[in-house]
Amino acid sequence: MRALVIGAGGQIGRALVPALLDYGYQVLATDIVPLDYPTATAYLDVLDKEGLRRILREWQPEAVYHLAAYLSAKSEMEPERGWSINLTATWQVFDACVEANVDRVFWASSIAAFGPHTPREATPQYPHMDPIGLYGIAKLTGERLAEYYYYRYDLDVRSLRFPGIIGPGYLPQGGTTDFAVHMFYAALHEKRYTCYLQPDTRLPMLYIDDAISGIIRLMQAPREAITVRGAYNIHGMSFSPAELVAEIQKAIPEFVCEYVPDFRQKLAESWPRSLDDSYARRDWNWRPQYDLPALVEAMWKALALHGQS
Ligand code: SER
Repeated sequence: MRALVIGAGGQIGRALVPALLDYGYQVLATDIVPLDYPTATAYLDVLDKEGLRRILREWQPEAVYHLAAYLSAKSEMEPERGWSINLTATWQVFDACVEANVDRVFWASSIAAFGPHTPREATPQYPHMDPIGLYGIAKLTGERLAEYYYYRYDLDVRSLRFPGIIGPGYLPQGGTTDFAVHMFYAALHEKRYTCYLQPDTRLPMLYIDDAISGIIRLMQAPREAITVRGAYNIHGMSFSPAELVAEIQKAIPEFVCEYVPDFRQKLAESWPRSLDDSYARRDWNWRPQYDLPALVEAMWKALALHGQS
């Protein structure tokens, strides 16, 4: 199976490329940043339609993983560029994949597609959605577009509404859930952290290994098993900054966190605290492995292996 990964240098791509290689895929990893993988790599600006078409013609992938994005905070700071990357590029990827006869496409949606009138606990698969941030508006539009491409062009697009993703080895930038990764590094190096969210802001989160196994399971599922053509809810765990601080203090008791909320607070408060992921469990056997203690243990282990402690 030949796979093309777009945005392979980001937080998800860095974990997905090695996982696809482990599964025996032939992978072409692309990004605008230099990539260092034991597989074929290429420069690709996702907004470059012709470049994308050329790569699809030459590589002829069966599966495309489109991960290029500007996250929620960055999209507020660079609205036009954010919109182009998050929506225009996604549209172009879908179009190019139809043209190139790609068998299936993965792209990432987000909990940011929900809004203040969405029920925040055990958020259903099909609730009211009124995102207040540009990132979420683009993701919700992307979900509609994905379903449209499935029904109009028979393009087998699949997607997950990712919550905050936590993993070692990469400091995510431009998101609202980034604090959860940054806190580990700050605890190790500075023993203190200034959090831009209020201590009790609970958000859904996922350990990176669960995110990757989710993508792989979803993409390996038979076509007829997929009943959600927008994007599936998935849930792993929920925690607040204060709860993460308490977990980190078990290993580093001197770690202190202060709270200076900024504009990201409003975005976070419009997102779910937990999600009902029963469609994903039923359709393609979504089974996350990590809760908060398991995540913290995995992070310490991985950071020690990377020589960070
Ligand atoms: N992790 C993303 C963000 O914080 C949400 O999908 O923007």
